[in-house]
Formats: sequence, structure tokens, C-alpha cells
Amino acid sequence: MDKFVIEGRVPLRGSVWISGSKNATLPLMAAALLADSPSTLYNVPDLRDTGTMADVLRFLGADVRFEDHVMMIDPAGFRNHEAPYDMVRKMRASVYVMGPMLAKLGRARVSMPGGCAIGPRPIDLHLKGFSALGAKMEIEHGYVVAQVEKLRGAEFSLSGAAGSSVGATCNVLMAAVLAEGETIIHGAAREPEVCELIAFLRKMGAEIEGAGERVLRVRGVKSLRGARHTIVADRIEAGTFMVAAAITNGDIIIKNAPLDHMDAVVSKLHEIGARVEQTPDGTRVWGSFENYSPTNIQTWTYPGFPTDMQAQFMALLALVPGTSIIRETIYVDRFLHAAELNRMGANIQVLNGMATIIGVPKLSGAPVMASDLRASAALVLGGLAAEGTTVVNRVYHIDRGYESIENKLTALGAKITRVSDDELEEAAGSAR
Ligand code: UD1
Repeated sequence: MDKFVIEGRVPLRGSVWISGSKNATLPLMAAALLADSPSTLYNVPDLRDTGTMADVLRFLGADVRFEDHVMMIDPAGFRNHEAPYDMVRKMRASVYVMGPMLAKLGRARVSMPGGCAIGPRPIDLHLKGFSALGAKMEIEHGYVVAQVEKLRGAEFSLSGAAGSSVGATCNVLMAAVLAEGETIIHGAAREPEVCELIAFLRKMGAEIEGAGERVLRVRGVKSLRGARHTIVADRIEAGTFMVAAAITNGDIIIKNAPLDHMDAVVSKLHEIGARVEQTPDGTRVWGSFENYSPTNIQTWTYPGFPTDMQAQFMALLALVPGTSIIRETIYVDRFLHAAELNRMGANIQVLNGMATIIGVPKLSGAPVMASDLRASAALVLGGLAAEGTTVVNRVYHIDRGYESIENKLTALGAKITRVSDDELEEAAGSAR
């Protein structure tokens, strides 16, 4: 298993290019199944999760080719209506194939995703939407088994206890575009990734109104054609690099930050005292701990502060003098990184979905364990700022969502190396 070995305290300098958005790519890949002809996606990030989704689509019968960030998906052979446990277990977003299965094949047998390191992640809202469109749903032996003669448009809400759901909105939308008649979805998610899906579906011939709004109106069409689409830059990767600049007292240019989608993150950075400024070369981000002050953050659905940036900001706030508070409202248990940051000397207490962070003057490098994708990013950021050596274990989590993060950080001057267990043993042996 790979690890990152990081020698901290190097201010990052230089420029970085952000890859295509993982969370925008995954639903678009599933949506390609809805068409009667091939689709081509450009700027697809080369990640473990996009590879897993490609495997899922192939398993269902589609032909998927991926080269140089271009993905061609030919859905002609899409006949299989089953997504087995082993696939969904690897990546929850595999459930995105359920909408296209119901729309194109009239049936689906998809393994129920379980909980994950960030807590319970139900799919009740996905099922509510499919059922409103006329599908008969049952849970059998850990699988959702769904069947429908013909999906029919309906009016319903997809809002849950934690607000709107990105996954449910995308999944149900993919079913509604081929349903008979009109569908009105209340409480729809407004995330940019949902808007990307809507843009792609429209190119395919779907009739959808209301992108970026709470209510989506869909007029079902008889068929869809393949389309071409360039994936937007990843707002979470861009945000992570912004924090990397701030936490290392660095000064970097992000060549293609999708700033339109990053208001909440950029305004928090400003509030803390880091600087983010648009220049002719890209977005310049710089700052110094001398000027930083603590802040309060509450995660919420878009355009609120994204839960996917919570862990990274916790790493930064761990070093900001004073007391900061983070309230996590989307995934109340998403705090496993706090204990790992504390192993590096941070002073963070977590209680009932709230973290109290008392800034410490320094972090010290330590072996730490990545528990999920964004927690891993927080530990890498902690390592970049810490004194001495940090070893981040289980970096396969980070490979799910950050393309070549170590190469991008190295190009900015960071001292970060990817090593396998064997290499670490050898290095320890030669040092003995
Ligand atoms: C997506 C993102 C993930 C991000 C999350 C929230 C992808 C592949 N993943 O996940 O990175 O952290 O949005 O921005 O795009 N919920 C229900 N019932 C459901 C579905 C969701 O109660 O049927 C709850 C969830 O438990 C959570 C909230 O709704 O509390 C938001 O979840 P959702 O937006 O669906 O997240 P995902 O689409 O799974």
C-alpha cells in the first residue's frame, strides 16, 4: 500500500493546473448510458473513482475507452441491469447507474451502499424519486430491486433532513428525462455538478428547466443522442490547493480555478486573512500566519460552505491563533481527521457534530492514517505545514479524487514522495 512521506514547512510557490471535477464526471459517465449513440467527455480526471465507474459501465455492457483525459462511452451494448456488491462497495457513486437502468431497461438490481468512514449515507431519497416516477422498489438480500413498465412524470420533493441531495437529484433526473410526461422536482440540489449534468443532458436532447434552482422541470423525451462535453475544473481540488498555499505561508497561482463556484471557500479564506486575487495569469493565493485570525464555519449545501472542504480548513485552523469552530451539518460524523491532526499536535475537540479548534503554534510531523478522501487531503496539508516528517498512510483514499497530487505539490516546491511499504522498510533498514 502506498504512503506519502512529507517534509514540512516549505512555502509553496509557482503555478498549478486543476484537473476536471470528479463529482461532475461520475454522473455524466452514467448519463452516457441513456443515449442511443456514443458520447465523448473531455478533461476527464484520471482517478481511481473514474476508473471504477468505467469498470461499472463496462460490466453493464457499454464500451468505454479512456486516453489522455478523453473518455468515449458507447452505450450500444448496455443490457445488464445489475450492479453487484463488489462494485458499489468500492464506490458509492456506482448507484448513479440506477436512473439510466430504469429509464432504458425498465429494471435495476443494485447493491445497497452501506455506511462509510464519513458516516451513514442512505439512498432513501433516490428511491423516493424512482418510486414517484412509477418504479416498484424492494430491498432483497442487500440489493435494491426495481422494476417499471414505463416511467411516468410526477411532482415530488427530494429534500431530506440534511437539505437537498446531489446524488438523488442526479440519479432521479436521469430517470425523469426519458419518462413519459412532465416531472417537477422540488428541493433539488443546486451544486455546480448537478448543473453540469443538466447541461450534458440538454446536449443529449433532454428538456430540463431550472438548473441551479430549487425546482427542476423536466419534459420527458422519447430518446437521447450521445453528446460531447468538457468537464469543469474541480472546485474541491482548487480549494485544497488554496489551503495548501495558505497553510505553508506560500504564494501560488491556480491557473484555472472555477472561482464562480467557490464563493463560500474564497470568502472564508479572506476572513481568515489569506489573500485570493484574480490576476491575468490565474488566481493568486497567498498569505502568512502573522495575519491570520480564527473563524467559524458551518457546512451546508451549495452555495454554502462545502462539506468536502471541511477537513482541509480544519488543518489550516489548527495553526491559526485563537479558537475556531466548525459545525458539520451534512455528515455529522465526518471528523475522523481531527484525531489524526491531534496526533500531530493540534488541539481539536469534537462533540455532537461540532469541532472546537484551539490554534497551536506548530504541528509536528507524525505517522497518520487517512480515513477518507478529504480527510487524506487534510493530513497532507497538515504534513506540508508540520515540522519534520509526516507519513500519511493509506493514500489510496486520496487517489480516488486527486490526480497526481504529489506531482502537482512537488512542482510547487513541496517535499512529498510516494513510497510503497517495501521501500519504507528498505529505507529504515539502510538507516539502521
Ligand atoms: C456528493 C459528493 C460528496 C459530497 C456530498 C455532499 C459525489 C460523487 N459525491 O455525495 O463528495 O460530500 O455530495 O456535498 O458527488 N441523504 C439522505 N438520503 C439520500 C441521499 C442523501 O438522507 O437518499 C443525505 C446524506 O446522508 C447527506 C445529505 O443528504 O447528509 C447530502 O448527501 P448527498 O448530497 O446525496 O451526497 P452524495 O451525492 O452522496
